[in-house]
Amino acid sequence: MKRILLLLSVLAAFSASAAPVEDWQNPAVNQRNRVAMAASFSTDSPRLSLDGIWKFRWYETPGARSLDFFKPGLDDSRWDTMPVPGMWELHGYGDPLYTNIAYPWDGHYENNPPIVPTEHNYVGQYRRSVAIPAAWAGRDIFLAIGSATSNVRVWVNGKEVGYSEDSKLEARFDITKYVKPGEEALIALEIFRWCDGTYLEDQDFWRFSGIARETFLTARPKARVEDLHVRAGMDGAFSIEASLSKAAKGVKYYLSGPGLPEMEVNASGRVERPNLWSAETPSLYHLRAVCSDKKGVTETAELDFGFREVKIAGGQLLVNGQAILVKGADRHEMSATGGYVVTVDEMVEDIRIMKQLNINTVRTSHYPNDPRWLDLCDRYGLYVIDEANIESHGMGYGDRTLAKDPAYAQAHMERTRRMAQRDVNHPSVIIWSLGNEAGNGPSFEATYDWLKAWDPTRPVQFEQAGLGRNTDIYCPMYAGYEHIERYAQSNPARPLIQCEYAHAMGNSMGGFEDYMELFRKYPSLQGGCIWDFVDQAVRWPSAKSRTGYIYAFGGDFNDYDPTDNSFNCNGIIAADRSWHPHAYEVRHGYRSILTSATPAQALDGRVQVYNENFFIGLDRYLMRWEVIADGVPVLAGQLDAPKAAPQQTLVADLGFRETDLAGIPGELFLNVSYILRRADGLLPAGTEVAYDQIPLREAPYRLTAADLNGRRWSADFDPATGALCSYKLEGKELLAAPLMPCFGRAVTENDLGARLELRMKPWLYPDYKLQSLERGSEGVEVVYAVGDGLATVAVRYALADDGSITVTERMTEVREGAPELFRFGMEFAMPGAFNTLTFYGKGPFENYQDRQGAAQVGLWKQSVSDQYHLGYPRPQESGTHVGMRWMRLTDAAGCGFEISAPQAFSASALPFGRRDIDLSVTGGGRGRGGDQRHSLELREDGLTHVNVDLVQMGLGCENSWGAVPRAQYRLKAEPRTFSFTLKPLL
Ligand code: GAL
Repeated sequence: MKRILLLLSVLAAFSASAAPVEDWQNPAVNQRNRVAMAASFSTDSPRLSLDGIWKFRWYETPGARSLDFFKPGLDDSRWDTMPVPGMWELHGYGDPLYTNIAYPWDGHYENNPPIVPTEHNYVGQYRRSVAIPAAWAGRDIFLAIGSATSNVRVWVNGKEVGYSEDSKLEARFDITKYVKPGEEALIALEIFRWCDGTYLEDQDFWRFSGIARETFLTARPKARVEDLHVRAGMDGAFSIEASLSKAAKGVKYYLSGPGLPEMEVNASGRVERPNLWSAETPSLYHLRAVCSDKKGVTETAELDFGFREVKIAGGQLLVNGQAILVKGADRHEMSATGGYVVTVDEMVEDIRIMKQLNINTVRTSHYPNDPRWLDLCDRYGLYVIDEANIESHGMGYGDRTLAKDPAYAQAHMERTRRMAQRDVNHPSVIIWSLGNEAGNGPSFEATYDWLKAWDPTRPVQFEQAGLGRNTDIYCPMYAGYEHIERYAQSNPARPLIQCEYAHAMGNSMGGFEDYMELFRKYPSLQGGCIWDFVDQAVRWPSAKSRTGYIYAFGGDFNDYDPTDNSFNCNGIIAADRSWHPHAYEVRHGYRSILTSATPAQALDGRVQVYNENFFIGLDRYLMRWEVIADGVPVLAGQLDAPKAAPQQTLVADLGFRETDLAGIPGELFLNVSYILRRADGLLPAGTEVAYDQIPLREAPYRLTAADLNGRRWSADFDPATGALCSYKLEGKELLAAPLMPCFGRAVTENDLGARLELRMKPWLYPDYKLQSLERGSEGVEVVYAVGDGLATVAVRYALADDGSITVTERMTEVREGAPELFRFGMEFAMPGAFNTLTFYGKGPFENYQDRQGAAQVGLWKQSVSDQYHLGYPRPQESGTHVGMRWMRLTDAAGCGFEISAPQAFSASALPFGRRDIDLSVTGGGRGRGGDQRHSLELREDGLTHVNVDLVQMGLGCENSWGAVPRAQYRLKAEPRTFSFTLKPLL
């Protein structure tokens, strides 16, 4: 009663204002004449695509728009054009705008739901004539608009047909009475950039406008299937429910599937021992529903479905009775060139990459996706967490959340219900999500209750419900290691599956393996979805860029709009779908075959193979192995992967024995990998799906003395700084910038989020004041006072006859309370001609102490110009390798330095100086006025910049807004010593 009164008073407030409330400002009207949502299925009725070029006009404000643009007689020959699908901002109308929490009018207009500003509330008007086929006579004709942001009003042949909000679900209208088969029909659409529904669409993404999915006409017989639901459990029982149009007299069902020839079935029945659907075994069955009227068959509706069961029992999420691990990623529908318009080819590519990365779950963050995406998930096997298009983040989580605003209750319910009605038949959808980042409230309790009653076959989740009543899964975002471990130890009734975790922004994903370890340890920790799959950058022309374009982010377009800068670039992969270095860590962390061995076992050629798959054996894989000695393969073999059942461990005998290794000198590793024998879905035969590296035997690296007999070398030390500033070999200069201690790094996005550029600032670019300089016959010792009483650092250079220099860096004193270090090491530069990097250490891609799971010790030869990952949208630290035994920097003649150390070290060699890739130098900000530099606009300075470290701080991934790497991956400021040798190569 109270709610009704409130609602009435809201409506009264509207009617009190002078002008009548228009639909686009009225939360009580989310549609007019829209056809009721039905489950996705295809039919054999004719269909006419309306994708293509439409006539288009664009207005700055609603008040400026033409009010008669839909009239048939109007001359639109001079209008502009707009592709459908197509986003206005990517076709020259308005600028791309990106904000996270703030509404897109932030800074210019106070939030005042349901009223949105008129200023900059652009309006697009579309017109297109289409010939309605004469053969469509007698049929009902529907217009479907896949996804219109933020709303759409429709006219046909000058008559108003209807209206729709909720930009991520199809708007379908019956236009039969407005058109004549055999004649042209004029379709006119009007779209507003913002409407009252925009208050529920405050997702952290680009705020584009326009039409993003397929738009088409269909002509369906009067007698047809209006809706079709199939329920099919793991016991083979199925039931079909069709709702038929009035003219329909009956429907017959035909079922077919793997090993099951098509047969007519009743509305309920049972398939004996069906092939169950799972992400690993995406077996689909096919249903044809043949509808007829009194004269005969009129239409066939078809869909794929799967036999499977999802439930929560014993505190775990079970698929087909088996607890699974959610190896997930969040994915926005986003293309670097199309914005919200993602083609089917691009969708398939995303699924291919997900499969390559061993991702088994996708959360459709944060709205229902294109129905074709769900078809692909069914077909190729991905679990889907299907999320309603509701995020009112900008209203906060407290009293102002729209979930507590009765005026928005209906919109919450409609958005949820229509999602479920559309997607109910997809076996891939295993969980419904009520929405994202919207304060909890009565509306979410109502949508939860509705979903549970309407579809008892799926769990429902909602992050903001916490452990409250309206979520079946505890699905926090960015919960830290300790938090989830404590939860797991509390004997919880609900599984914990993070709806978002491991924030993959920039150079990130440090500590990802630690999450996987916890997921693998505790039954109630069933994984989560990495935030997020792909950088949401937009490809944009730039004359300054080395490629002619940049990957643009928020703030790149004007100084007026609110922006959250690069915060929409958090992808496992880059916007162009190339892999970021941390993608390899994801692929490795998410692998489903794990290899391990005790040292004795491994030396004897035996390893334990754990099949972490939940439903498939390992018969589709070959197992390959090699033993490498100092990075060079010395033994290799191939065998069938052991016949381990799902979740089972078996020992594999690789066939070599310790005696086979006896005569082989050097450090030994065993590399084991698993290869697909035959193509599997989108993965071709030969794809490596998992690998591990097992240490076999340690050996100290011995320097292979270069023959410098008779060669001349000289080392000079700068008397002012004490630094080694010149090293000449036969007259060739090897140094371009002197050796100096280094404790800072070009900050990463995660560093900036934690404000480390401030908290650890003293170490970034401190003064090194020369305290003392001692020269002896064998070397030089320099002592520096670092910063303003921050620390004392001594560097000793010991020269040997062969021209090698052993550098020993010691931090002897540190000020009490000094901040932690970014790294402990030295930096210098060489002329750019020294552009080949050869190393025996972890590679091939960059890696860090908390992100080295995927990297393997090996012998790698790379170019210095490839060391910096240009795929990071903004400049930052890049190119480090840990586990270095030695590295060489050489020119075309093979001349250069070899760097080695008594223990494994960490190093990089980049074509850019540290300051040039360090956003802290320019403030690094993220909001309006933030740092808009792009990696692709970096210029090489012609030098090879080298960092050699005892250790560098990790990267972290808990979040990018305050979290620092875990304690074990950070460096306390305390006395430390690092020693390495520079040896000339000629
Ligand atoms: C979450 C949110 C995502 C994204 C992410 C940070 O809070 O649900 O949409 O904003 O944080 O990148």
